[in-house]
Amino acid sequence: MRIDILTLFPEMFSSLSASLLGKAQEKDILQINIINIRDFSKDKHKKTDDYTFGGGNGMLMTPQPIYDAMTSIEGYESAHKIYLSPRGKVFKQEMVKSLTDFDHLIFLCGHYEGVDQRVVDMLIDEEISIGDFVLTGGELPAMVIIDAVSRYLPGVLGNSQSTEEESFSSGLLEYPQYTRPAEFMGRRVPEVLLSGDHEKIRKWRENEAKKVTLARRPDIIKKD
Ligand SMILES: C[S@@+](CC[C@H](N)C(=O)[O-])C[C@H]1O[C@@H](n2cnc3c(N)ncnc32)[C@H](O)[C@@H]1O
Repeated sequence: MRIDILTLFPEMFSSLSASLLGKAQEKDILQINIINIRDFSKDKHKKTDDYTFGGGNGMLMTPQPIYDAMTSIEGYESAHKIYLSPRGKVFKQEMVKSLTDFDHLIFLCGHYEGVDQRVVDMLIDEEISIGDFVLTGGELPAMVIIDAVSRYLPGVLGNSQSTEEESFSSGLLEYPQYTRPAEFMGRRVPEVLLSGDHEKIRKWRENEAKKVTLARRPDIIKKD
């Protein structure tokens, strides 16, 4: 998958080269390209923001540098172009899988009070919010989405890590998990997990997943 990110703060994306996403890029499963919107400003001071028409507090990102940055990307017309915005559709696990259907994603990160509506209307396919709160910029939301989507790309997770049995994949939160030692500060791991009886373990996990979901997130339980 190819991902282009349009931002005024490219340095915020240095963490994308760490851990599994870094390995995915080394293996060429994922190609991430970061574009500094400021490089495209035609203003003599490289300005990328201005006051809003109609008044109001704060500055808005101007359309020209964003338009030129976006249209400089090879194949931008057929890529799926996302603007990170608190006004967008709230990001959920089912959206993660649908984004893996695209082989080219472009993320536009807003800053200040956001971006001029005309570039959204002219260039953007989908607006996504990562939750009902307001952040200073779209950079963290872009990284959240890229991380969640990358986990579904074949070869990113090792065999030991699976997307099949984790929270949300089956409409349930995940059951509690334990590792060595079997006893820690007087607390023992549930005996069933040490029994070696796979059917009993499966049933215990299923039951625990239902319990935790009912207690914390009854809204996500799938009704058949
Ligand atoms: C301070 S916010 C702008 C908020 C905007 N004035 C509003 O009231 O909707 C600056 C930028 O951060 C990003 N942003 C902030 N909160 C976000 C969220 N919950 N999800 C996705 N992007 C967000 C967007 O790219 C936005 O353009």
